Amino acid sequence: MTNNGERLQKVIAQSGVTSRRKAEQLILDGKVKVNGETVQEMGIKVTANDEIVVDGVPLEKETPVYFLLYKPRGVISSVKDDKGRKVVIDYFNTVEQRIFPIGRLDYDTSGVLLLTNDGDFANLLMHPRHEMDKVYIAKVKGIPNKKELALLQKGIRSDKDVLKAVQVNLLSTDHQKKTSIIEITLHEGKNRQVRRMLEELGYPVIKLKRERYDFIGLEGLNAGEYRALTPKEVNQLRAHAQKL
Ligand code: URA
Repeated sequence: MTNNGERLQKVIAQSGVTSRRKAEQLILDGKVKVNGETVQEMGIKVTANDEIVVDGVPLEKETPVYFLLYKPRGVISSVKDDKGRKVVIDYFNTVEQRIFPIGRLDYDTSGVLLLTNDGDFANLLMHPRHEMDKVYIAKVKGIPNKKELALLQKGIRSDKDVLKAVQVNLLSTDHQKKTSIIEITLHEGKNRQVRRMLEELGYPVIKLKRERYDFIGLEGLNAGEYRALTPKEVNQLRAHAQKL
């Protein structure tokens, strides 16, 4: 048991043995053991390393799985949508495990999205202190100069946030159409961060794609396609996050 991980009742419900409400009742009734001890408190968090027994039956652990999806535009980075719109999980019909996206891309943003059923791995990668590189390619309205783009590395105010980029490069400009292509690397992952930063600077985003998450890029995939991450890639991502 730890401060990280998932709530016990959620883990029991997710394993499919019962609903979350019934899982809570089983805990209150003293029918749940974690690592051999009966647990009757509700706030407890568990990880994949904990042995959970419900009513004398050990909870079967899902095999951890890790995927890379080339998220298309027009899809929600979520497990389900109240309004019935397409969600990223719809691409994984043949995957049995209960996977979820590690962080989010906006509805209109395409590119690298990692998914897993391993909550510890997701938390590790998403922790702001772990500063994983996220590289975006933005097509914007207008033609910024280098001085303006340098402001993004100093930090730019938007609502109550100061939003910072780690690196910014002007890749190309189209003087006829008055548009530019900008590469922008973030460590943070605040809501609509790239769009807000460039909007504040006066160059609204026309199109946005996440090109890379740490060393994971989109090579070999078309929009809407996915592949499993290799064990080596998973270990490398974990190692990078732990080192940072
Ligand atoms: N920044 C954005 O503005 N949108 C995304 O989807 C990701 C980063």
